[in-house]
Amino acid sequence: MQSTTEHFHRRKGALFAQSYACSQLAEDFGTPLFVYSRESLESSWQQFADALEGHEHLICYAVKANSNLAVLDVLARLGSGFDIVSGGELKRVLAAGGDPDKIVFSGVGKTRQELTEALEVGIRCFNVESEPELDRLAEIASALNVVAPVSLRINPDVDAQTHPYISTGLKENKFGVNMSDAVDIYKRAAQMPSLNVQGMDCHIGSQLTSIEPYKDALARLMSLIDQLDAEGIKLTHIDVGGGQGICYEDEQPLDIKQWAVCVIDAVGDRKLEILVEPGRFIAGPAGILLTRVEYIKQNEDKHFAIVDAAMNDLIRPALYSAWQAIEAVELTDTPAKEYDVVGPVCESADFLGKNRVLAIEQGDLLAVMSAGAYGFVMSSNYNTRGRAAEVMVSGDDAYVVREREEVESLFAGESLLP
Ligand code: LLP
Repeated sequence: MQSTTEHFHRRKGALFAQSYACSQLAEDFGTPLFVYSRESLESSWQQFADALEGHEHLICYAVKANSNLAVLDVLARLGSGFDIVSGGELKRVLAAGGDPDKIVFSGVGKTRQELTEALEVGIRCFNVESEPELDRLAEIASALNVVAPVSLRINPDVDAQTHPYISTGLKENKFGVNMSDAVDIYKRAAQMPSLNVQGMDCHIGSQLTSIEPYKDALARLMSLIDQLDAEGIKLTHIDVGGGQGICYEDEQPLDIKQWAVCVIDAVGDRKLEILVEPGRFIAGPAGILLTRVEYIKQNEDKHFAIVDAAMNDLIRPALYSAWQAIEAVELTDTPAKEYDVVGPVCESADFLGKNRVLAIEQGDLLAVMSAGAYGFVMSSNYNTRGRAAEVMVSGDDAYVVREREEVESLFAGESLLP
């Protein structure tokens, strides 16, 4: 089971975020509270940098996984690029000091405004997902008198062997263009003067713990790249997407060295820069969610730990039946029992974990582990609950990187009828 890591570890039974006792963080900043470790973010990012060293590459952190400005700032300082999927994410990256020339823009539904803004800023590449998008981009670029750098997202039709909601590389998914249409679309794109065809990309799914799907997808993409080459269309980069899996329960995290060898081997002696868009692998293990037990309740044979975090704070268990480790922040002699750890939201899907053996009492603190990716970013205000605060621990310091939302702010933009 994924419990403690180098960055979230135990000292004499107490959970620490680097040099901070989690109980102190909860005391100082309240709960529910997302706690991030800067050093964890850095060391995961560095794994990609080390594994791809010696081959021209760009790591484009997938902003959607955790878009807090401080997280982006930490990665921008390492020289990271960014994979964005909206105009909102573009603004965040720029606000955090990200380099526009290292931004790739993915997503199936880019609006005119989003394309225009990204062209004005001068991003590194548009990962185009359909022919109509290609036409729209060409038209806007031409009107702005600029040339848009383009990559086509290919749907290689491979099974990523992951949860259906986070599998994206099958024919039935909405993402990318089909292998069989790709050459024709590339040919059209190559003839549009306001487009500069640079690359090919794919993203086959998320939380992949096996190299095989990457191998399959890359083999297909490389044969397509060779076909294009024979047609005189020379690409300069291959973007392999993200998806590298982490350990939530008993999964073996993807070995980034092995993954890099697989990509570099597939590229062979083709002159292609390697782009990669990891989100979860960098942000996931770098965060935990602290929550306090409000009540212990027993119905028939079932024990419930009713905590102050809910599905609005962490929706992964409700949405994907995702399993995340839940631990008592302080280990005590309280007799352990099996609990469903549930929130206060009025939905039966409002649980963080079921059948968890925990030694806890009312008032105790729990930590949901590996909550740094797709945690806060997917949170909502359901039940008029302000979103949690976020804190980043860096060296011996802890910084509030997002204030807890005040309830009044949640309806500040609403009005009564005249
Ligand atoms: N690139 C593209 C085009 C993507 O769509 C995604 C994720 C990534 C990169 C980053 O994938 P990662 O390295 O994080 O696996 N909310 C779900 C995950 C959705 C992922 C969507 N796309 C979850 O909580 O598991």
